[in-house]
Order: sequence, then structure tokens, then C-alpha cells
Amino acid sequence: MGQFLTDIKTIRERARREINEGAVTPDYALDKDQVCKILNEALATEIVCVLRYRFHYFMASGIHKEGVAAEFLQHSKEEQAHADKIAERIKQLGGKPEMNPAVVAGRAHAEYVEGESLADMIRENLVAERIAIQTYREMVNYFGDKDPTSRVMMEGILAQEEEHADDMADLLFAVNPTTEEETKLVNPDEKDAGKKVDTVNAPKAQTKTPGVTKNFDKKSSDKKSSGGKKAAKKK
Ligand SMILES: [Fe+2]
Ligand SMILES: [Fe+2]
Repeated sequence: MGQFLTDIKTIRERARREINEGAVTPDYALDKDQVCKILNEALATEIVCVLRYRFHYFMASGIHKEGVAAEFLQHSKEEQAHADKIAERIKQLGGKPEMNPAVVAGRAHAEYVEGESLADMIRENLVAERIAIQTYREMVNYFGDKDPTSRVMMEGILAQEEEHADDMADLLFAVNPTTEEETKLVNPDEKDAGKKVDTVNAPKAQTKTPGVTKNFDKKSSDKKSSGGKKAAKKK
């Protein structure tokens, strides 16, 4: 087997000498201040998402409230877990996780929008998730091979944001199936999935037919079972 560490003596000496650097060793190839700045933007995004989902959890109302509010609460908790991971990583890199509310609001990529209806709330969350997905993917590329720990962490968070976006897309479809968004949101269970809905000529009552409610209830029960799937995935 070839020798992997060619200069273990120097590595040992520097590890001892630069002990104040904690987890950051001299071969760290990125600018750690820049990395902490980027991670603080992700942290701010997560904190704003925690608050927005939590607000929506308390304010959700209407016939679909029960299932949707539970989803908002679950997402809020998962965003908090993301924030904790990111804050921990910033600390490991010798930075300071920024949690000053006045600063956080200005740094977040996603916005804090209250929304006026359940559909509004779901739509705002979907938009925020899509923003997070795109910016986190950029971060993953930026970290690349130079900071695999930060990259793997952001990859895990990114995967969960994609699940969140998918959840919100499903809920939006269930709660408000004749909005413009339906042209983009495909329900694979429907035989006309993906077909553009004529929102002008469609009978208005269609949004509240028992069939739609039934379909939503089915999705809620699917979600419960997929919650188990999610939990299994997280292990
Ligand atoms: Fe998140
Ligand atoms: Fe999310």
C-alpha cells in the first residue's frame, strides 16, 4: 500500500502548534471568513423559515387546517434542526453564528411573508423553499472538495428542502387545485395529471367538491405513511 501521509511529522507539529485554530487545519483550502459569512446567510434563511412556518402553524384556518398545520409545524421543527447544524458548523470553523434578529432579517435569502389565506401561506412557503434549494445548491458547489464537511451538511439540508418544496406543492394542489400553479404542479394520482386546467371555464364549485376533499384526505393519510418513510430515511 502506498504512503498516504507523506509528512506526518510536520502535520503532527503544526497540529500541536496551531491548536487555537480548533478544527481548522492549515490545509483548509477555503477562506474560512467567507465560508462563515455564507453559512450565516444559510442560518438566517433557516431562522426566517422556522418563524414563518411556526406563524403559519398558529394561523392556519379553514377546512384543510388540520393536516396543513401539522405539516407547517413539522417543517418548522426541521428548519430549526437545519439552523442548529449550520450554527454548529460555523462555530467549528472559528466563526460566530449570527442570531441577532435585527441582522438575521437582512441576511436571509428567503422572505418572511405572512399570507392571508391557507393557500397564500402554502404558496409563500413553496417560494421560500425554492429560493433555499437554489442558493443551497450553489453553496454545495462552492464547498466542493475543499470543505467536504460543509458540503455534505448542506447536501443533507438541500435534500430535505426539496422534500419540503414537494410537500408544499402537494398541499397547494390539494387546497387550491384550480390556481394558475396547477399548470405546473402535477398530481400523479390523477388520470389528467399535468394537463393544463382551464381556469376560466372550469366550474367554480369544482374547488370545493367532496371529491377534492376526499382526494386531500387521501393525501393526508399518504403523508402520514410517508412520514414514516421520512423518519426511516433520516435514520
Ligand atoms: Fe431548512
Ligand atoms: Fe425547508
